Amino acid sequence: MDKIWKGRIQKNTDRLVEEYTNSLDLDKKLYLYDIMGSMAYLGGLRSIGIVDRVTSDKILDGLEKVKYYIETHSVSGYEDIHSLVENKLIEYAGPEAKKIHTGRSRNDQVVVDERMYAKDASYTLVTNLVKLQKSLVDLAQKEKDCIIAAYTHLQIAQPVLAAHYLLSFFEKFSRDIEGFSNCFNASDSLPLGAAACTGSGFALDRELMASLLKFSKQDPNSMDTVSNRDFILDIIYCCSKTMLHLSQISEDFVVYSSHEFSLIEIDEAFCTGSSIMPQKKNPDLLELTRARSAVVAGNLTQALMLLKGLPSTYNRDLQEDKEILFSAVERTCSSIAVFTRLLENIKFKPLGERIKGTFIQATDVADYLVKKGASFRDSHNIVGKLVGHCIQNNIDLKELSLKELKEFSPYFDKYYYDSIDIGNCIDSKKVDCGTSRKSVLKNLARAQEKLEGWKDEAEKLKEKIPQYEKLKRELNL
Ligand code: ARG
Repeated sequence: MDKIWKGRIQKNTDRLVEEYTNSLDLDKKLYLYDIMGSMAYLGGLRSIGIVDRVTSDKILDGLEKVKYYIETHSVSGYEDIHSLVENKLIEYAGPEAKKIHTGRSRNDQVVVDERMYAKDASYTLVTNLVKLQKSLVDLAQKEKDCIIAAYTHLQIAQPVLAAHYLLSFFEKFSRDIEGFSNCFNASDSLPLGAAACTGSGFALDRELMASLLKFSKQDPNSMDTVSNRDFILDIIYCCSKTMLHLSQISEDFVVYSSHEFSLIEIDEAFCTGSSIMPQKKNPDLLELTRARSAVVAGNLTQALMLLKGLPSTYNRDLQEDKEILFSAVERTCSSIAVFTRLLENIKFKPLGERIKGTFIQATDVADYLVKKGASFRDSHNIVGKLVGHCIQNNIDLKELSLKELKEFSPYFDKYYYDSIDIGNCIDSKKVDCGTSRKSVLKNLARAQEKLEGWKDEAEKLKEKIPQYEKLKRELNL
């Protein structure tokens, strides 16, 4: 296939070099953005008379055919998606279509495609995360009375509502939603006009092109435009953070679903078996999510290393950003989707009688002694000794008599038994960020409200994404 740059270089490209430099297999994913970018660019060229209305209509028609061709064929034989679209366009629309690349370069073209991809991806990630959040809130609502153990250092710490635990991830994913919404804005600027690096030699109407492609603003510096991949770093960073959060909750669930912890039950449809051990029900899905977070974190490092030390403006190194970007976005999207379904298929198991011998109420007993007049440091010491005594005698906190208790501290009275009631331990937390039923119910209501707010916000983002048919209609006016 003829190269779009064949004038200067007369020899055929070496076959190995051809293969080595080709990016079509990857960047064909950008075909619709590339075509829409060309449509808006056509609007720009038309506005300054480079292309007349008749030619413009031919080119638009040709682009529609290119779109159909790509959607119905497995494409190959071109250097990249930009060359493919341009070559096919000339084939379908005739030699006048050669005007499409006037004052444009693949260096600004590829950035348009990537900005549009990044806006779309950020929007999808926001909406997918909102669905995940809904599953989290629904599960928290369903489990609002279930008491489990909270752990520090993976050792039993204090009783906690399962809903409070789940809402802790709601907070993490809320920050992720905000992050992707910022990514959307970082990508929402028109690169066209930058050309190869110093700006187009034609007085293109950038405002028109921005409005056609629904970019809210325009890049102010052409040299920055062709080298800028910050918006890609942003989105990969946000993907890494979301995957990190998914990995952390996965790790919790792996541990919690084990026989030893037995805090959750995962539906069989979300587990796998063993080829040799007949009794097994393994949480492979969670392990793979944990592993894929490593891949996405690796993508972030790859992107940083790719950009580090590049000289100004466009360098071919930048071609490699797509594989990294697609890997991060696709892995994050599929992990969010599968996790959303998993949350709909999980049950929590209350601690119940299993608190025996865990001394999980120890901190609450120490607080109770403080309320009776002891200093915290003393009460901590007293309860520590009490726990040691129970361990030595193989008894639980609730088996201690008041007489025995008094030997440890005169502050003990009959209300000690209330202090070790697990429901009281939950409600004894007096701050609105704590696990008391009152606070958790409030936070559940707040989470519901946030969900509604995000749905509106996602709608607003959607309005800033160009649609092919709409763009075509606008250009046909
Ligand atoms: N395939 C290239 C990329 O993805 C497109 C830009 C090529 N520009 C160039 N001057 N060789 O970055």
